[in-house]
Amino acid sequence: MNDRQNYGWKEMTMGVCYYPEHWDKKLWADDLERMQDAGITVIRIAEFAWNKVEPAEGHFEFGFFDEFLDLCEQKKMKVIFGTPTATPPAWLTEKYPEVLNATKEGILYRHGGRRHYNYNSPVYRKLSARIVEKEAEHYGKHPAIVGWQIDNELNCEASEFYSEADSAAFRVFLKEKYGTLDGLNEAWGTVFWNQTYTDWKEVYVPRNVAGDGINPHQYLDYFRFLSESTVKFCGMQAEIIRKYRKPEDFITTNGLFRNVDNHRMEKECLDVYMYDSYPNFAFGLDRDPLTADDLNDRKWTKNLNEVRSVCPHFGIMEQQAGANGWVTKMEGPAPAPGQLTLWAMQSVAQGADFVSFFRWRTCTVGTEMYWHGILDYDNRDNRKLAEVKDFYRKLKSIDAVCGAENVAAFALVKDYDNVWDSEADAWHRRVAERSEKEIFAASELYHTPYNIVYLQKDSELSDLSKYPVLLYPHPTLVSRERSVLLKSYVEEGGTLVIGCRSGYKDMNGRCIMMPQPGLLQEITGSDVREFTFTGLAQEAVWASCGEEKIEMPVFNDILEPHDGSKAIAVYGNGYYAGKAAITEKRFKRGKAIHFGSTFSRKNLKWLFEYLGIKEPFAELIEAPETLEVVMRKKGDTCYLFVLNFQAEEVSFTLKREMRLLYTGDTKARKQSLSGYGTAVYEVLLP
Ligand code: GAL
Repeated sequence: MNDRQNYGWKEMTMGVCYYPEHWDKKLWADDLERMQDAGITVIRIAEFAWNKVEPAEGHFEFGFFDEFLDLCEQKKMKVIFGTPTATPPAWLTEKYPEVLNATKEGILYRHGGRRHYNYNSPVYRKLSARIVEKEAEHYGKHPAIVGWQIDNELNCEASEFYSEADSAAFRVFLKEKYGTLDGLNEAWGTVFWNQTYTDWKEVYVPRNVAGDGINPHQYLDYFRFLSESTVKFCGMQAEIIRKYRKPEDFITTNGLFRNVDNHRMEKECLDVYMYDSYPNFAFGLDRDPLTADDLNDRKWTKNLNEVRSVCPHFGIMEQQAGANGWVTKMEGPAPAPGQLTLWAMQSVAQGADFVSFFRWRTCTVGTEMYWHGILDYDNRDNRKLAEVKDFYRKLKSIDAVCGAENVAAFALVKDYDNVWDSEADAWHRRVAERSEKEIFAASELYHTPYNIVYLQKDSELSDLSKYPVLLYPHPTLVSRERSVLLKSYVEEGGTLVIGCRSGYKDMNGRCIMMPQPGLLQEITGSDVREFTFTGLAQEAVWASCGEEKIEMPVFNDILEPHDGSKAIAVYGNGYYAGKAAITEKRFKRGKAIHFGSTFSRKNLKWLFEYLGIKEPFAELIEAPETLEVVMRKKGDTCYLFVLNFQAEEVSFTLKREMRLLYTGDTKARKQSLSGYGTAVYEVLLP
């Protein structure tokens, strides 16, 4: 655990990503001055520039960044310095091909892209530790530096690793976990299809197999292992930087990718977490508009919500500032006027107190020459720069929001074991993905923002009891500790809601020979007597609760209430009509609901009403579902963010007088926002 969890920004801060190595030195001073003029006070640099510091093995040259950092100091520009391990130099991969990651088929990823290395190669770890140590030692005390970024987007591009070094490290991981091969064979159910291992040498990271069969228990451990490898690689760098950095400088990394326990990485290695926000991914020509989700335009709120659960006051290291595209893919439109501000405010609304745009000027060479920055190749002032300046004015007008907490109507509960199990298990994935998407949609449409709580090793009752309602959609894997924690939550007065497919596996992902929902039955009192996918051909299944008809999509648990629980809705059609679909058990001071299907925006409307979940700002604003409304709160002061993701003007009503922070004017009653418009209001609660 590091000593500076929950790093706090002192004020709203704006930054940009800059690559001094991409430009003629003659441009540096002018670039820094123009940035300052726009309100940019922090730049992130150096994250791919290994060769600039170690052009040949063991030969170090510090002059390039010395010169640049000194100029930054002179121009009063602050710097986040990135370690360069995402792009090993050609001399390195050529001499030590064992550092390369491989495809599942065993083919090595070659030099030329990025993130082509594996975390477990001893040579790569050694050479990475050395370059990080050299950089931290040399630049660590430079007055311009305010923070360090480890690598770049750990697990982006490649989030699965299949090199020989990975198999070797996987064996060590498994030996530590299981002690004996018998233990491993038992946990992985290797009795099935004659997979029994008789020597550790026979154990590998997953490899190509005939047909689509996999061992799901092996995969579950494999994902845990990948996470462990990522966290350790990050931790190794953090430990080195910590020795040399100035005590006030932070350590961070950016992005949020598959197969890593970001919460653990944040806790063990970092001071603050940063995210890279590119909402325009939703609109590229490579996205089929017919299959695009609705609410696609504001989908990034869902990701930002995840980031906030890792780190309440995170930063945005890369905020989209132009059209996105690589020469090979992603043909994206330029942000329309207003969108750049809208997306940046979306980040701030969700908890970011630092926003750094990607990138100052579009690169003129390489794969990313269509990943547009604020300035275009011609380097002239343009509409995007004007909007960045205007965003800065708005950001400073809401300085008081810095450090304010997001207000949630309920919490969505998740845990990495279930996330990773659903990666390998299509039945689990089908229900989990569907419910999460729909919970997000419901929260947007009904203005019921939520926080995400990940159950972790050190989770405590107080992490849960701040929320009156926990929605834990499909906890397929349940451990004894987790069921005990959830039981105390309910006993203390909380309402726990679980969906179908709960509690039928142990922590190795093996199905348990107990009535479902397994260990959770003690809390819910429900008994799953039968279960089934609803099937495409079948008429949509619904349940009735009095006059209400509740949609029960995708999968159905056919329930029997026991042990003090009662049916609050019964199936209305199909061969299980009349059987319990939703049960409720009042338990000490709280209650537990077993909802026998996946969640949808329609059935959540009923559930939210049933449970009294409503807009936390219901007394303050009435807004149509086309607007996103988010509230951050500090003491008695609330900050309401109203964001219009539509191209058209949208109206809404302020139910009380409040101050529009952008102008300082007092507003009340009917208001409107132009297309892609945003507003932030301050209101004191009585
Ligand atoms: C991010 C990455 C940047 C840049 C950008 C545009 O994922 O961190 O280095 O590549 O995307 O592709």
